[in-house]
Amino acid sequence: AKRVVSGIKPTGNLHLGNYLGAVKQWVAMQNQVQADGGETLFFIADLHAPTEWIAPADLRAQTIEMTATLVAAGIDPNRSILFNQTRVPQHSELTWLLNTVARVGWLNRMTQFKDKAGKNREGASVGLYDYPVLMAADVLLYNATHVPVGEDQKQHLELARDIATKFNNDYATDLFALPEPLISAAAPRIMSLRDASTKMSKSNPSEQSVVKLVDSDDTIAEKFRKAKSDADLLPATVAELADRPEARNLLTIFAALADRAPQDVLGDYAGKGFGAFKPALADLAVAALAPIRDEMVRLLDDKAAIDSILNQGAEKARALAAPTLKAAQDAMGLLA
Ligand code: TYM
Repeated sequence: AKRVVSGIKPTGNLHLGNYLGAVKQWVAMQNQVQADGGETLFFIADLHAPTEWIAPADLRAQTIEMTATLVAAGIDPNRSILFNQTRVPQHSELTWLLNTVARVGWLNRMTQFKDKAGKNREGASVGLYDYPVLMAADVLLYNATHVPVGEDQKQHLELARDIATKFNNDYATDLFALPEPLISAAAPRIMSLRDASTKMSKSNPSEQSVVKLVDSDDTIAEKFRKAKSDADLLPATVAELADRPEARNLLTIFAALADRAPQDVLGDYAGKGFGAFKPALADLAVAALAPIRDEMVRLLDDKAAIDSILNQGAEKARALAAPTLKAAQDAMGLLA
């Protein structure tokens, strides 16, 4: 049976990139995998958040907010195990064990670290450097078979496979299953609405570049109206958009929101301009996001209830994680 595991950082609100690249798949997989007798685990990666500075009050509030958002988006805490890393201490404990297996040379190749640390590598936190090892622990702890993520996390999951393979070899065991990254075909990488050479992200300084779940309907519509595009008409085939990254990105978003193939969408818009395309795109985005936003706001009326969802999820997660940690300790000769 499949065991699906994935996480999201509580650093800011959910945006369209997270939603289309990850969370939408999570909800779909929850429904499919459960029907096949598998299991789905989704968590708030709160331990990953402070690898870059985040104020404690923000971390606290956003952990609750992100949980409410996931529930509002369709993650059902009675069917999926929904928790935050901190309440499952085995994540931290296994990370330490895996730190002894991961090689410095492997971590030096991680592009996210290079991007995030930028020129000031000496000033980056050790946590930011070690971030992918915590991610490996997140999935190996549950013997995840499938990990639905955006394309930007693929390299981290390949590292998790390398770590699992080396652990299994070094300690002559088959303890860890190799996790398979599942990259959304429809929305592997949603780009900024202002600059299609950078991905849509919470940390982009331009508010206009990222459609957030907490945006009002009017703000969502305005962001699409002002999204960078070009003066050309939409072509008949996707191939003709190869040199038009902004146009390609808007088409990708449209198709992913509508659950249609990009080529199929062009069937409706070939020969038309963005003046016709953008309002339809804005309507689709509002139709997808507004109900989630409104439900999230409603759920946040009772923050204690959200906190208790995380507690109950953590209890179930610990029951799955504890035997794996113990087996890893045993394999290494640690007296647990
Ligand atoms: P995070 O919080 O940055 O993003 C959550 C998920 O959203 C995807 N994503 C995108 N997909 C398409 N286009 C975009 N512009 C875009 N931006 C973000 C991310 O790929 C991710 O799937 N390290 C992870 C969290 C994590 C995790 C894990 C994931 C911690 N442990 C273990 C899987 C397994 C992260 O930073 O996600």
